[in-house]
Amino acid sequence: MNQKWKNVLIVGGGGREHALGWKISQSELVENVYYAPGNAGTLNNVPIQPNDFEKLAAFARSKDCFTVVGPEAPISLGIVDYFSARDLAIFGPSSRAAKIETSKSFAKELLRSNGIPTPQFASFTDHQDAIDYVLMQSHDLVIKADGIAGGKGVIVCENQGDAINAIEELMVKRIFGDAGDRIVIEERIRGQEVSLIVLSDGSSIKTFPTCRDYKNIADGDIGPNTGGMGSFSPVPYVSQDLEQQIIDDIIDRTVSTMKSHSVPFSGFLYAGLMIDNKGTASVLEFNARMGDPESQSLMVRMDSDLLEYLSFAESAKLDELPPMQWKDQTSICVVMAARGYPSEYHKGQIIHGLKNEYSKDINIFHSGTTQDSQGSITTNGGRVLSLTSLASNLGEARQRVYEVADKITWGENGQYFRKDIGTYSI
Ligand code: GLY
Repeated sequence: MNQKWKNVLIVGGGGREHALGWKISQSELVENVYYAPGNAGTLNNVPIQPNDFEKLAAFARSKDCFTVVGPEAPISLGIVDYFSARDLAIFGPSSRAAKIETSKSFAKELLRSNGIPTPQFASFTDHQDAIDYVLMQSHDLVIKADGIAGGKGVIVCENQGDAINAIEELMVKRIFGDAGDRIVIEERIRGQEVSLIVLSDGSSIKTFPTCRDYKNIADGDIGPNTGGMGSFSPVPYVSQDLEQQIIDDIIDRTVSTMKSHSVPFSGFLYAGLMIDNKGTASVLEFNARMGDPESQSLMVRMDSDLLEYLSFAESAKLDELPPMQWKDQTSICVVMAARGYPSEYHKGQIIHGLKNEYSKDINIFHSGTTQDSQGSITTNGGRVLSLTSLASNLGEARQRVYEVADKITWGENGQYFRKDIGTYSI
């Protein structure tokens, strides 16, 4: 270890950050893990919002923290540049490198010009040009806001009418504001999704196991996109050979291209991939951060010391460490959301069942939770809790996690969760 970090600051307050902090707390290297702003499930919360760089930097300096950033917003706004300019240790990509997530057209051009597999696409800044293009296409389409839109800027279309509506929503009604100034129109590829996330120090990578997330709100992958309603790891339909091919042809090539363009990517690099019915992987999107709820499923399987890996990545010395070690078990995460999410939902409902005795293979990570003046834990967001279980196989992991989900309740409008997490068809 090149430095003993006694204090770690996690920026963010979702299930991803709770899971990262939970794992980092197990490191022998650390004494205190702080969260800004955290949630009712995290200890040592600091009331600073993720985009308030000045206050975050002052806190990190006062405690000599190593900082780890969860959400995309502070990354895209340049938190890593801000901290680095002040000699504060932080793990994550610069805002220029984060363009791989914050501009879909940038990412798609990078993929195309380097021969990295990705569905064919075109990008537009004029809505009529975009509609004219749609009218000339014979295959199904996906319409994507170029900028970040909280995971909701990707609209999968069943027909041309859906595609034209999506263009109007993004570019005329501007439902995601500036994020829709430019859009990408992509051929819709059918198959099975998989998330492959790596730690990159700009040159070297270390790979997390495969993970699958479920983006739609309803069972059967229908309804609007959400931040993510569940995940599991590892993914049985990705063979070791295919995983290696993804690493060689997609991840390594992307990391070396960014380096050769003098925009090295240091951080969690997340490839959202589609495996088509011929078993070929192509990139649907990149994210410049850990996934949520992938983080929850991955952290409970991790045996290695996450903080050590993050610290070596931050010092550009990842190649000095061996591959990360993982439990040879399957993990699953089911997100419990407030009914109504991702549209309107209630907050402030007391959550029951959190204090029951659950088995040691169960973890309850918090997202949108807070504590009221009586000390009760209440709902405070759309995605409220992430329940994980770890078992020898996916079926058992599923059964255990849903037993717990059935015991946690809140409020009149109540909780909602997908019942099909961990199922898939190939
Ligand atoms: N699970 C999807 C995301 O983190 O963007």
